[in-house]
Amino acid sequence: MNGASPPILAVRGVTMRFGGFTALSNVTASFPQGQLTAIIGPNGAGKSTLFNVLSGALPPTDGEVLFNGRSIAGMRQHHFARLGISKSFQITNIFPDLTALENVRIAIQAMTTRFNIWTPRSRLTEMEDRAAELLSDVGLAAHMRRIASELAHGEQRALEIAMAVACKPKVLLLDEPTAGMSPEETVEIMQVILRLAERCTVILVEHKMKLVMDISNHILVLHHGEFLAEGTPDEIRANSEVRRVYLGEGRR
Ligand SMILES: Nc1ncnc2c1ncn2[C@@H]1O[C@H](COP(=O)(O)OP(=O)(O)O)[C@@H](O)[C@H]1O
Ligand SMILES: [Mg+2]
Repeated sequence: MNGASPPILAVRGVTMRFGGFTALSNVTASFPQGQLTAIIGPNGAGKSTLFNVLSGALPPTDGEVLFNGRSIAGMRQHHFARLGISKSFQITNIFPDLTALENVRIAIQAMTTRFNIWTPRSRLTEMEDRAAELLSDVGLAAHMRRIASELAHGEQRALEIAMAVACKPKVLLLDEPTAGMSPEETVEIMQVILRLAERCTVILVEHKMKLVMDISNHILVLHHGEFLAEGTPDEIRANSEVRRVYLGEGRR
């Protein structure tokens, strides 16, 4: 890893088996604090599996997950969330009939208080102001009052990121946030992710290598469930094994 910052998250010898199939094999890697790390690799490399191990959704078959040096593998997902490890809400978690603003306000509410229908009006206004700010941050300032289900796909992905950020994460995990987006939406969401990376550690799963080269500080490359390389974008670009793997699938 690049020496500047200590890892906030790390995996040591992580193996993940599904029945007889090994999706991750003895993977060791570090995720430096305050930086934007991209996990890249061809389809089937094990990126989403590692993402699920890092978010606490999947306890690894073997190996350690370390948060600030403390072992957390095997803890329940809500413990991961309480530590500040947050994964982007899935679109299925968006309330389709509510506005973008209401969705983010609910995410804030879920974080700060137990849901209470008697929340005083002044608290609601405060939370709405904060929600509006988060929506502006992800480029949705003009769409706050729109019903979530009527937003474009890219706008819904931006909304789910705003909802994840409402939980004030220390580490934000994003799995292919640009999947299904137009090139214009992709550029916009990448800008959003860059801005988020100024406030928290971001770990981004992406299979398009070119896309992450310009925005990441740190890159981890997986291939067939195995660690292939880790380093700065320049180091990864210069790595002959990485080039071979990506050239082999048509240089994306
Ligand atoms: N729950 C599961 N059960 C069985 N096989 C799985 C499961 N999840 C992932 N896999 C397999 O593990 C491999 C890695 O998958 P995944 O982590 O989704 O790769 P990536 O995100 O890099 O495309 C794939 O071959 C996939 O079919
Ligand atoms: Mg995946």
